[in-house]
Amino acid sequence: MAIQRPKGTQDLLPGVVEKWQDLEQHIRKICREYGYEEIRTPIFEATELFQRGVGETTDIVNKEMYSFLDKGDRSITLRPEGTASVCRAYVENKLYGGPQPVKLYYMGPMFRYERPQAGRFRQFHQFGVEVLGADKPIVDAEVITLVWDLYTRLGLKGLEVHVNSVGCPTCRAEHRTKLQKFLAPRREQLCKDCQDRFERNPMRILDCKNATCQEITQGAPTTLDTLCPECSEHFRELRELLTAAGVRYKVDPRLVRGLDYYRKTAFEVLVEDIGAQSAICGGGRYDGLVQEVGGPQTPGIGFAMGVERVLAALQASGQGSDRRPKEFVMFIALGEAAQKEAFSIVSALRSKGIPASIDLLGRSLKSQLKSADKAQARFAAILGEDELSRQVVILRDLALGEQIEVPLDEVKEDLIHKWEEEV
Ligand code: HAM
Repeated sequence: MAIQRPKGTQDLLPGVVEKWQDLEQHIRKICREYGYEEIRTPIFEATELFQRGVGETTDIVNKEMYSFLDKGDRSITLRPEGTASVCRAYVENKLYGGPQPVKLYYMGPMFRYERPQAGRFRQFHQFGVEVLGADKPIVDAEVITLVWDLYTRLGLKGLEVHVNSVGCPTCRAEHRTKLQKFLAPRREQLCKDCQDRFERNPMRILDCKNATCQEITQGAPTTLDTLCPECSEHFRELRELLTAAGVRYKVDPRLVRGLDYYRKTAFEVLVEDIGAQSAICGGGRYDGLVQEVGGPQTPGIGFAMGVERVLAALQASGQGSDRRPKEFVMFIALGEAAQKEAFSIVSALRSKGIPASIDLLGRSLKSQLKSADKAQARFAAILGEDELSRQVVILRDLALGEQIEVPLDEVKEDLIHKWEEEV
């Protein structure tokens, strides 16, 4: 039996990869403009990093981590997200000792053992940004504006930005008590997961997707009801700044994110039309995380977006360019001597950055011409035994359907000239 790829993973083939590259280019460009620098951290980390960082009560840590013992008996985990790793790197490399804030971005694969479905994978890719060392609401606003700006530039339609404040440990303690009091009479009717959450992390009950839980939590106290003055002021300033920046957002008091590290700002970007998994970005402030992973008290905020979901949304809104690289010239050489000549010219063209190719299968003239057409090459350059003996190349313009003969010793310069005119 042929071996198949693991469930929840994808092969990204030519034709699709170009769409990824386009998106990556947009991302790098916008990050440069906003002053964010790239960081690359390991794909695997000590399991403890995520236990401490993401939190023991989360689904990610409880159910979804790819963890294993390595040959040295260390517990290792394939990263399920990037924020904890970036905080670890910030501490380990003493980035707190340099100029603040530190504005970073990353792109790469993440791993979660989830039930695969449309838009949900076990290996997926995130683009994320993290700002460390700044606590003012203007930082939150900059981060949200960056993602809004990116999506707008990409031409995504039907965007919804949801923002909330989940408060700090002080106001959260009050919320917890009030929420437990509210839910206690109907505790037994909550779904099994939420019964667990009741003690461990009751706030998460607010965003359970189970219909009964949703009905039970109607009218439940939200974190916004118990914000302390500082958190309340932070949230007010953020909303004003978002309005000033032209970001269309909605306050969503039931938005509590699935990771434990959030404080104050939490946000998500949702998009219509891509099926059940409509969250194309999630983020928030995590002012306690750097300390949690062993560093000095440092505020932080960031987001991560799911690359697969953004590409699906682009596809759904009719964007997503089709940009398979096209050959400029395909050499059709027949016979060993002609092949040698053609190979030398193709190599020279390639070294000048001109996309050129040559048949690698020893096919007939007819089938080589067919494949030049299929590849949408601009020119086919034909060099058979007859042409070789006359020291010419037939240059066929595949777009216009015309052909001319060019002296063999001029064809390279001629093609370089044509390429320069084209680009
Ligand atoms: P998250 O909400 O767990 O947050 O993930 C962020 C985004 O990654 C989601 O909105 C979604 O687009 C994408 N995503 C998550 N899981 C999957 C999956 N199984 N398949 C496909 N896409 C997925 C975080 O990861 C935080 N680290 C975000 C953050 C950065 N907060 C602060 N800084």
